[in-house]
Amino acid sequence: MGFWSDKSVAVAIGGGIAAYKTLELLRLLREEGARVVVIATEAALQFVTPLTLQALSGQPVRSNLFSPCEADGMDHIRLAQEVDWLVVAPATADILARMAGGHGDDLLTTVLLARRGPVLLAPAMNPAMWAHPATQRNVAQLQADGIALVGPEYGPVACGDHGQGRMAEAAHILEGGRRQLSPKPWQGRHVLITAGPTQEDLDPVRYLSNRSSGRMGWAVCQAALRAGAEVTLIHGPVALPVPRGANAIAVQSAQQMYDATMQVWENRAYHAPHLSAAILTAAVADFRPANRQMTKIKKGTAAAVIPPLTLVQNPDILATLAARANQMAQDGQSPPIVVGFAAETGTDADAAESVRVLAREKQARKGCDLLVVNNVLAPGCGFGSLTNQVTILHRSGHEETWPLLSKEEVGERLLDHLANLFV
Ligand code: C5P
Repeated sequence: MGFWSDKSVAVAIGGGIAAYKTLELLRLLREEGARVVVIATEAALQFVTPLTLQALSGQPVRSNLFSPCEADGMDHIRLAQEVDWLVVAPATADILARMAGGHGDDLLTTVLLARRGPVLLAPAMNPAMWAHPATQRNVAQLQADGIALVGPEYGPVACGDHGQGRMAEAAHILEGGRRQLSPKPWQGRHVLITAGPTQEDLDPVRYLSNRSSGRMGWAVCQAALRAGAEVTLIHGPVALPVPRGANAIAVQSAQQMYDATMQVWENRAYHAPHLSAAILTAAVADFRPANRQMTKIKKGTAAAVIPPLTLVQNPDILATLAARANQMAQDGQSPPIVVGFAAETGTDADAAESVRVLAREKQARKGCDLLVVNNVLAPGCGFGSLTNQVTILHRSGHEETWPLLSKEEVGERLLDHLANLFV
């Protein structure tokens, strides 16, 4: 069952051109299984039609305070109390002003006044209107009232201007809601995550690397953010946008990843909140060319002369952090939990068992608290796939094998699993 499939959502639409983007939000919510009701202001219906909104939400549009759908005429109270999430997109300058002033002169503002549960506003307006002191004053008041905002974002706006005022994309608004509604067992905790491949330069145009897409690390990062953690994400070159809210540090080589990771680890006590866990999902290159050539390596002219490739070993980030954590434990301090990931390749008849044996040996060698193991040759587990099937090996000897899950679900389960170790 997906996150939204048992949720009911009220999508309130203000009168702005960004209302067309809210249609995509409605589509995404329905696709995810949410029950959706639309509240549209009179002005919103100048931009999108009731028929479109009804078709996309599957319910008649609520717009008029004085033409209620419910027999007792209490639409505004029922809407305010019954839904799990109330999102206002676009939240125009006028809606922000009326909310900040506590107005209740139409269906939307009365619903907002009667609302006790989570509300998310997605403001959208011309950059000058957003920057206006009156709007900024209203936003500050709403934030002081405990109302959350997503966006507005920078970029071109409908009137041809450029600046901060674009409504957040539908997927970002949806993610904002998910973070608002998710339990927060990691609130007040900091987690360090490494992700993606590393690239080891041979010369200015060539490098050694691997097939890691970064998806597993991204899923862990997203799950940590949803669970309320502060996240430092140190990642190699990947084609994925950084999850909103993560402190991302982009690196290229294993040595750079090592240096960045050690710096975060060294600063862990000065950083608020303190580091609770290091989850190392990155596929770090084990070796790098002994000498990076400063100019492109040339092919031989007559007889093919193949240049020799001499490799040296990269530092092992996981083993280093695990050793430091173990030393802290010996010194009577409570170290962050150190978690490694191991991609193994088992092809024989008893692949699962041979992978498990390899992984146990790896965990002992690296000294980490937990190792998350998968057989990358198993169906649905390859690099770049959206699913993964993992076994969790604890230092204590405890083991858990999880079914084939989406990487997103693996990330969530892992964060829940680790949160239980804190209590
Ligand atoms: O030895 P192997 O590469 O299979 O170990 C995988 C685990 O070790 C992953 O958690 C990976 O991020 C970590 N690792 C590391 N530094 C290396 C090699 C691997 O942190 N140089």
